[in-house]
Amino acid sequence: MKKIEEYVRSIPDFPEPGIIFRDVTSVLQDADGLQLAIDSMQDCLEGEEFDVITGLESRGFIFGMPIAYNLHKPFVLVRKAGKLPCETVSRTYELEYGSATIEMHKDSIKPGQKVVIVDDLIATGGSVEAAIKLVEELGGEVVKVVFLMELAGLKGRERLKGYNVASVICYD
Ligand code: PRP
Ligand code: ADE
Repeated sequence: MKKIEEYVRSIPDFPEPGIIFRDVTSVLQDADGLQLAIDSMQDCLEGEEFDVITGLESRGFIFGMPIAYNLHKPFVLVRKAGKLPCETVSRTYELEYGSATIEMHKDSIKPGQKVVIVDDLIATGGSVEAAIKLVEELGGEVVKVVFLMELAGLKGRERLKGYNVASVICYD
């Protein structure tokens, strides 16, 4: 059986020179790779008590939603600006390449709820840090953050001090 890292395709100089892009499409387009990725991420939540899974647009949706479905938890969307129709809270942050604004519906997290955040990858940690701030602004408690991949060289984890962070694959 192949290891999960064997399914990830790495593309140099995408979307900009100097970036090595870790591509999840090569994981998802293989039935074994897809199952292994979801199962491995879900295993990170073994024994964890929580109320809600939230995923970051767009790749966080792919991985967060099946885990929420499997564990019979609600799934909350963190979306890029301008996509959510009701009242929102929002944050702007810097990425490994460029900047972005993300939003959540104000009623998507109830005060006191225990929240798990799921995304495909942590690079600088800017996206997940912004998502954590949104969840906390709504009164939620972030009990765990789960990634398929971590780009350790970009030190995103250092921005998440004090949070419970798990990643399935770690690149230097
Ligand atoms: C990518 C990735 C993470 C984020 C990681 O998403 O899916 O959400 O960047 O980078 P960071 O740790 O430096 O914030 P992107 O914003 O490119 O959107 P996409 O999932 O829609 O491609
Ligand atoms: N998002 C931010 N940095 C990335 C990278 N190097 N590969 C894939 N997705 C990313």
